[in-house]
Amino acid sequence: MDYQNIKFERDGALALLTVDRPKALNALNSATFHEMEHALNSLKEDTRALIVTGGGDKAFVAGADIAEMSTISAAQAREFSALGHRVFEHLENLPIPTIAAVNGFALGGGLELALGCDLIYASEKAKLGVPEVTLGVIPGFGGTQRLTRLLGRARAKELLFTADRLDAAKAKEIGLVLDVVPADKLMEHVKAVAAKILKNGPLAVAQAKRVVEYGADQDLRAANELERQGFAVLFGSEDQREGMAAFLAKRPANFQGK
Ligand code: CAA
Repeated sequence: MDYQNIKFERDGALALLTVDRPKALNALNSATFHEMEHALNSLKEDTRALIVTGGGDKAFVAGADIAEMSTISAAQAREFSALGHRVFEHLENLPIPTIAAVNGFALGGGLELALGCDLIYASEKAKLGVPEVTLGVIPGFGGTQRLTRLLGRARAKELLFTADRLDAAKAKEIGLVLDVVPADKLMEHVKAVAAKILKNGPLAVAQAKRVVEYGADQDLRAANELERQGFAVLFGSEDQREGMAAFLAKRPANFQGK
């Protein structure tokens, strides 16, 4: 597929997906979602981490495309919402860590894209929020639910009701982003985080993601059972043998993801 709205690159075990419509501040229209879906489907098996960012120097993603949404019917809105849900759930369910590098405006659907990633880091000039009520709508790509799970009901409602645009420092203070770094250091920072992850056992990292994701919505007893299963299933893998043998031999592990 010839991408018009995204860039999709690989650097060894790392993939980089850039939403790249800077003229519209990288707003997500249907065509962009289809390209993102195609890119996620074409991730190679040896890709071990994915970074998501925005093209240009102003925005991560400034939301769903308002021009495209402005005239659609309720039925089309439901379809558009389902498309966004499908792509962000795909992102969330990838068996590899995903990192949002929020390099500017992350508003509405843009913040929802970041929330679909495992880890969110922001540049000092990032601005984050869910301004949908200013347009007479609500977030439609999972934002109401993921914000609530991440921040708790009160903070999520505050952001949803007021449409406040948070600066990066405030976003960090409330736990919406993990760290804030100077704009020109953001990619270096997220690549360094990815590099740390890439050194570890890929099956173990995937299992850690799985048990957190599936366990977070369950009661503790069921969630701990998931952890027991995830723990047990790693034993007998080549990675577990290698990781423990390497520790005992006082050498670095050479994981193969098997
Ligand atoms: N959709 C479509 N186009 C957008 C856009 C969006 N979400 N955000 C920005 N653009 C376009 C602008 O229309 C403008 O295009 P033109 O040059 O052709 O006029 C261009 O990008 C540059 O934007 P601005 O001139 O507005 O730039 P600015 O620096 O003055 O303001 C901004 C930046 C504060 C981010 C402002 O663009 C803005 O408020 N954007 C909309 C943010 C928003 O409301 N997002 C939520 C969308 S709804 C949603 O996401 C629903 C959902 O969950 C499903």
